[in-house]
Amino acid sequence: MSFNDDPQWWRSAVVYQVYPRSFADADGDGTGDVRGMIDKLDYLAELGVDAIWVSPWYASPLADGGYDVSDYRDILPEFGTLAEADAFVEQAHARGLRVLIDLVPNHSSDEHPWFQRALAAAPGSAERELYLFRDGQGPDGDEPPNNWPAMFGGGAWERTTNPDGTPGQWYLHLFDIKQPDWNWENPAVADEFDDILRFWFDRGIDGFRIDVANSMAKAPGLPDCAVDPETGEPVAMVLTGTPYMNQPHVHDILRRWRTVADSYADSGLGPRVYVSEAWVTPAEELAKYIRPDELHTTFNFDALMCEWTAASQRNVIDLTLASTGAVGAPPTWVLANHDTTRVVTRYGRSVTGARFTPTGIDHEAFAGIGAVPAGATDVALGRKRARAAVLLELALPGGAYVYQGDELGLEEVEDIPEELLQDPTWERSGHTVRGRDGCRVPMPWSGTQPPYGFGTAETPPWLPQPTDWSGLTVEAQNRDPNSHLALYRTALAERRANPALGDGGLSWVEGLPEGVLAFDREPGFRCVVNFGPEPYSLPEDAEALVASGDVSAGVLGADEAVWLRR
Ligand code: GLC
Repeated sequence: MSFNDDPQWWRSAVVYQVYPRSFADADGDGTGDVRGMIDKLDYLAELGVDAIWVSPWYASPLADGGYDVSDYRDILPEFGTLAEADAFVEQAHARGLRVLIDLVPNHSSDEHPWFQRALAAAPGSAERELYLFRDGQGPDGDEPPNNWPAMFGGGAWERTTNPDGTPGQWYLHLFDIKQPDWNWENPAVADEFDDILRFWFDRGIDGFRIDVANSMAKAPGLPDCAVDPETGEPVAMVLTGTPYMNQPHVHDILRRWRTVADSYADSGLGPRVYVSEAWVTPAEELAKYIRPDELHTTFNFDALMCEWTAASQRNVIDLTLASTGAVGAPPTWVLANHDTTRVVTRYGRSVTGARFTPTGIDHEAFAGIGAVPAGATDVALGRKRARAAVLLELALPGGAYVYQGDELGLEEVEDIPEELLQDPTWERSGHTVRGRDGCRVPMPWSGTQPPYGFGTAETPPWLPQPTDWSGLTVEAQNRDPNSHLALYRTALAERRANPALGDGGLSWVEGLPEGVLAFDREPGFRCVVNFGPEPYSLPEDAEALVASGDVSAGVLGADEAVWLRR
């Protein structure tokens, strides 16, 4: 396959997310690595995705699974070497797979040499100006500079200690203590990131996924967040904007990066692209991130958060199409990632997500990321819905994301022993929020017991795998034509072959029973999803191309989907 044939590849790409730590462990140390990723490239090519997004593989103390970068121009030794990363990109390209990598621009690791130098330097020094150091409030400066909360719990400021042992200034960390925020008002920071982008573009990567793309710009003067008058606690409306999220001048940074990507237009690989990770609602606000001179696409977290009902799903689809269409960008569809509860588990619960009205998310009913209440999960029901959901996702206009393991129908692992939890959320929340480890459990490839072909039996994987995953391995699912994996392969192959799918538009089929959604795409394609509870009789003249269940009797059961040729 030649890459240069389709300069618009990113408008319809299916992108597979690799979380390197948990994907494949070639050297048997219990942690995934780049050689493991290379070994599995044939698997990804056969799966039928177009591109791979690699979560951070940079040098890092792994305080936040690699989203704490200590060297943006090198690979974590546990994961491999720069030469292996180059080989991965080259071998992915040889199979027609594009490669996106993560850029983590809001913060570095506290072990980044520039932060270490800043700590050693005096207040007001050029070194400290690279990050957000401030004096504390109160007579002894022992109150934090403002009331911002950190995303993983606790406050967003940490006090430093001076070389003589006395308490010093505070630094801002919107996430963990080990993730100090860069000072994006400082031109040296912007220049450094231009250079990092070029470093990787020059090595042939096709694009970046931008971590927390809405957070680099802070409100001038770093003002307090609004406070809840009843509790006195800061009200952090992360989704709609705070003094540290979705500030208007963040778009200046995105425009600057676009010029860097565009400067590679003639470099022979086709356009270099960006996908924004920004948990921003409403949809029109998010669409600002993908205006023609900003990022190319953005994850659709509204779709991810949306509950499993026909009405909410139709609303989220309409909102997405209208908002992305208004800026000329393609929509994307996302069921899960390394930060969210596995889709099988979410859809197997009584509350499957947020209600969406024709104007957007129902905030009252849903507080945001991670807010789907736990509770009893019907995993079989969740798997059934996840099968239908992927047919919906892959039939919609635009691009789609597949989180590793979702093609196997993995469920959230909810019983990892507390002493093995690694997500910083666990510590920062005072052991009240378990965090995201349950969706990061290493992939089961083969065999009947842990580590299921992820590394070797001698060294256990960095997070323990369930003992009942033998039927979910790639090896086991390869043998079963009705497996979750087989459905993904069939759907991805059909998507690639069918000219109606990918970029473009849709038209709703009206007048269907409540609970049934259907839309047509031209030429001759229809997707029908039955959110239940009643079975739905399919049109007699329709030919099923791909179905999530058995439609041979002409009936689409509850929580099933089908692709039809009209
Ligand atoms: C993004 C990442 C998440 C990380 C956070 C801080 O949301 O997806 O994993 O913890 O940013 O970098």
